[in-house]
Amino acid sequence: MKIAVIGTGYVGLVTAAVFAKFKNEVWAVDIDKEKIKKLLQGKAPFFEPGLEALLKKGLNSGNLHFTSLYKQAVPEAKVIFICVGTPAKENGDYDLSYVLKASEAIAKNLTEYGVVCIKSTVPPSTTKKVALVMSRFTNIAYDLASCPEFLKEGSAVKDSLHPSRVVIGASSQKAKDLLLKLHQPIPAPRVVCDIKSAQMIKYAANAFLATKISFINSIARLCDRVGADIDQVSQGLGLDPRIGDRFLNAGLGYGGSCFPKDTWALIAYAKRLGYNFKFLKEVDNVNQGQVNYFLDKVNLVFKGNVKGKTLTVLGLSFKPNTDDIRESRALAIIKKLQQMGVKVRVCDPVAVEQGKKVLKDALFFKDPYQALKGSSALLLVTEWDAFKNLNFKRIAKIMKDRIIVDGRNIYHPQALRKLGFIYMGVGRGGE
Ligand SMILES: NC(=O)c1ccc[n+]([C@@H]2O[C@H](COP(=O)([O-])OP(=O)(O)OC[C@H]3O[C@@H](n4cnc5c(N)ncnc54)[C@H](O)[C@@H]3O)[C@@H](O)[C@H]2O)c1
Repeated sequence: MKIAVIGTGYVGLVTAAVFAKFKNEVWAVDIDKEKIKKLLQGKAPFFEPGLEALLKKGLNSGNLHFTSLYKQAVPEAKVIFICVGTPAKENGDYDLSYVLKASEAIAKNLTEYGVVCIKSTVPPSTTKKVALVMSRFTNIAYDLASCPEFLKEGSAVKDSLHPSRVVIGASSQKAKDLLLKLHQPIPAPRVVCDIKSAQMIKYAANAFLATKISFINSIARLCDRVGADIDQVSQGLGLDPRIGDRFLNAGLGYGGSCFPKDTWALIAYAKRLGYNFKFLKEVDNVNQGQVNYFLDKVNLVFKGNVKGKTLTVLGLSFKPNTDDIRESRALAIIKKLQQMGVKVRVCDPVAVEQGKKVLKDALFFKDPYQALKGSSALLLVTEWDAFKNLNFKRIAKIMKDRIIVDGRNIYHPQALRKLGFIYMGVGRGGE
């Protein structure tokens, strides 16, 4: 089946590569010509495990095509996936301009019936807006649909080949059947529903996961006050099958390109519907507060005299296995440390180049030992595997002061204290 994918970011590119693997003729379009140039050479424009191999396979098989021209991709496509960004505006509201621009370009290039399927995360009223824009530029019949995406950066390829569920929201049986046929090789339960419900499922999922994280961080604050251990609390909590053990890791909270903006979008959307989503606002407040909570610990350990110190931040990407730094906790922490007069050294296995684009006056490293040389504290921000098994005997010798503030609770407090480190985690008591 010929399909078109609009936007070659994390979602679009993985979607295109996966459907090409299943022997569809896939045409992926992006307005970013540099990106298309790279993609045509088989190079992934961002770090994502397994993606480049899948791209090369797709290109070699002749099933995967990249172009900056809609007129090559859209005509005769049976399904057209919209996968462009839906970023947050300055005020937290959602920006649908990319989705609407893409809809206009699709309409101008439609030559026969196709299903226009929104994969971008959008509020349920978006479909109406897309239909209105498209009606200005085409008379050709088409159906609208929504297949929200649940992949996680860092395991996007695996998640797309083996998703937890495939949600298909469509306005007609014809569109549902076409989308069911396209997804047939993907082994996962199907939820076939109306478009609004499909889009609400995506927002509800992200809001719920964000809630779990802010909940456990609130409990961690109590653990810190009372001297309880959040790791044991999380374990005891997560063993209840009604609760589950995922997303119960206390620490710096969530960042990235989805949870923050999707939480803000749902709050803004709820307001438009006349509902004050106070509950979700508090989830966001708790999350935003974790950065200062962490920095308070840093200040505490230096007794307020942190100005002029050299500190090392381990981790720049918003989570391990990606070079995506959008809404990364590290960025917020580094900027605030610099405002406090701290000299910052930053280490990340893959995100250094991204970091250099937005951070000034920091020193960047890929090697943690180089980064920690002469430093007064190790601040663990992203839980990369490379940072989990460090040689702390060696580190004790190269650091100026033996201080660790662990924003993801990955280290063993007792073992580090034995080596003479002052150790602070989040909600781990005993500090
Ligand atoms: N990144 C994730 O982990 C993830 C997971 C699930 C859902 N989503 C949602 O999927 C959507 C896309 O996210 P992403 O992270 O892949 O975005 P991204 O920013 O990585 O990529 C978007 C791409 O769309 C391109 N683009 C913008 N306007 C275009 C147009 N008119 N025509 C063609 N291309 C255009 C951009 O150049 C860019 O390459 C968002 O709504 C996001 O919330 C993302």
